[in-house]
Amino acid sequence: MSIVFQNPSRIFRLETHNTSYCMQIDSRGHLLHLYYGSRIGEGDLAALYPPADVSFSPNYYSHRFDRLASPDILPQEYTGCNVGDFRLSTISVTDAAGVRGADFLYVSHEISPGKYALNGLPAAHDEDKEAETLTVRLQDPVTGLGLELLYGVFERQDVITRAVRLANHGNGALQLHKVASACLDLPFGQWDLIHFHGRHAMERQVQRVHLADAIQTVSSTRGASSHHHNPFVILCDRQATEEAGACCGVMPVYSGSFRTDVELTQNGLVRLVTGIHDDGFCWLLQPGEQFAAPEVIFAYSDQGLGRLSQIYHRFLRHNICRGPWRFARRPVLINNWEATYFDFDTEKIVRIAEKAAGLGVELMVLDDGWFGKRNDDNSGLGDWQVNTRKLPGGLDPLIRRIHALGMKFGIWVEPEMVSVDSDLYRAHPDWALTLPGRDPAMGRDQLVLDLARPEVVEYLADCMTALLQEHAIDYVKWDMNRNMSDVYSHALPAERQGEVTHRYMLGVYSLLERLTQQFPQVLFEGCAGGGGRFDAGMLAYCPQIWCSDDTDAIERLTIQNGTSYGYPVSAVGAHVSACPNHQTGRMTPLETRAVVAMSGTFGYELDLNRLTEAECGEVRAQIERFKRWADLIGSGAYFRLVPPDGESDFTAWQFASEDRREALLNLVVTHPRANPRSAHVRLRGLDPNACYRVDELVFAAGSDVADARHEGGTAVLTRGNFSGSFLMHAGVALPHLFGDYPAVQLHFVQVEGEKA
Ligand code: GLA
Repeated sequence: MSIVFQNPSRIFRLETHNTSYCMQIDSRGHLLHLYYGSRIGEGDLAALYPPADVSFSPNYYSHRFDRLASPDILPQEYTGCNVGDFRLSTISVTDAAGVRGADFLYVSHEISPGKYALNGLPAAHDEDKEAETLTVRLQDPVTGLGLELLYGVFERQDVITRAVRLANHGNGALQLHKVASACLDLPFGQWDLIHFHGRHAMERQVQRVHLADAIQTVSSTRGASSHHHNPFVILCDRQATEEAGACCGVMPVYSGSFRTDVELTQNGLVRLVTGIHDDGFCWLLQPGEQFAAPEVIFAYSDQGLGRLSQIYHRFLRHNICRGPWRFARRPVLINNWEATYFDFDTEKIVRIAEKAAGLGVELMVLDDGWFGKRNDDNSGLGDWQVNTRKLPGGLDPLIRRIHALGMKFGIWVEPEMVSVDSDLYRAHPDWALTLPGRDPAMGRDQLVLDLARPEVVEYLADCMTALLQEHAIDYVKWDMNRNMSDVYSHALPAERQGEVTHRYMLGVYSLLERLTQQFPQVLFEGCAGGGGRFDAGMLAYCPQIWCSDDTDAIERLTIQNGTSYGYPVSAVGAHVSACPNHQTGRMTPLETRAVVAMSGTFGYELDLNRLTEAECGEVRAQIERFKRWADLIGSGAYFRLVPPDGESDFTAWQFASEDRREALLNLVVTHPRANPRSAHVRLRGLDPNACYRVDELVFAAGSDVADARHEGGTAVLTRGNFSGSFLMHAGVALPHLFGDYPAVQLHFVQVEGEKA
């Protein structure tokens, strides 16, 4: 049993292998948070909160002569509204008379096997049958607003999910101005906040800050989780490192506007509140209606950030991703975007595919420009009919030729958008989000379709179903290339306009749910101008997401490093592209580009016909290597050894298989020097008592001079065996890596029968 209710203390204990999460119903009926952290045995948790008379922190009316208890001081599971807790609140609600207030008191609870589901929202599943659910019901006695706090406990995975369902059990309409998904109070300790900020083509840059005596906010109001602030955040010990220290991850399963606030309060308690962004939000809840707030995935590790990341990687792969592609090796793909942009026809695509197929590529993806009048990005979105000028005879002749090469065929779509210059917009201008009487703000010359309207979702479902039913399509790249402004639905009444952004997300999710259920064999890759919607919500439908429009290998080191804190490598869309790189103009060796792209789903995005014979040989070898190591890369434990933070001249990361029989060390020199210190790293995740040898070594320097220089220095690495303890403590040192952005891959295997 991972969930226990203890009487008479009325304490809930949620236990995973390594963590405990405890709450208590107090004498007034409020649900107090007591503890979340490393697993603990028996003890009086309530004693951790000695009563205190704190001035200017109000006391409960029923206990007004006892000034020792205050809603403003006690750790809460979910706050009330306007009833004496001045810290961050989880909810803001008004009744028809404009009275703003709620105070939730315990009604009942239930412990059940399996995992709760959230109607219309993505949430973790429990296909492996390990979860238990706790539902705690509370109610505000005045408005009749009922609250179901849902807890999914995944014992083996060390994960606890939370969500909230509200129901109006009263007689009058209520307006919800804010509904957070969870509140996490950490009463003790000194914490840092790690968050992942960025911009287009520069997503998920790691920033670690001390908590200030203030409220710090990570959020998006863009109608997408955004390039700018990823919804995943970590609170960690000031001393926490990759390998040691306490850290707690908070990952909303949501792809729209979100808000996470962290407040360091007067008594040192840290309160984190996360959920849908409340900017412009207002949900009308009529008597009898329900509202579900998105799920949040919590994980806690006292073994540092590396372990925390591994918990999320496993959980997202096992319990968020679904369908036949959940664990399957993804096909090595070639995408024509950076090879042709909009300028292609059937013959050009076939030529790219032919060359790629000969080198081992398995999937040809036809990117933007195949439909409507789409010769640039000013027109055509919404008109999902094939452009027969570019593709004479339509998609089928092309698909047949791709399939005849032994390749799968994939296609790009951007269903949520409409070009002003499109038949769809001319027929239904009111299907776009625009403000009456104002010119809309334009993004890439396109508008956002109003997916809050069921008929728009229906239309898109019909278009996409027809596309996938009528053509033998194996893969879909689902793009979204602008953020949401001019938020107004021409179909909703005034009192429901505050619901548009969330209803839009529900529309996106219902569309994706239908399509992925109807076409389970199709591999969906998410995208939003690269990684502008890289979140657990999208991963429930798309097991991989294009990580960034920046394909420069050196830039990708930083982007993929930041992404790795929360998201598994199997989810990271990564391609080898041409040099000079189209985003930065930088030259990097082909092998270095491959080493970086291999820490992702792996593919190519260039015209392979433009490579030399020798380069084609490299590509063939890269693909063979990736296929050999795909399991290790896709499901092995991931370790950030040396981060790309500018402190070191190189970046290194590593994979180790779950059975520790195999490991892959990757290293890229980011600052070539004339007289460098040797690159030294210690491996992780090996069996200290096992014996390993290097069975493959790849050096990427991009020049003959460099290759000649490397040879002598590397021989020592391939000679002889190393114990796991040697590799993890003494480590390996690499010779001077000469050349422009050289890279190294060392593949270690256990030597059968040898003990270290
Ligand atoms: C976005 C994607 C790119 C490409 C273009 C096509 O920017 O991130 O990979 O598909 O759209 O317009």
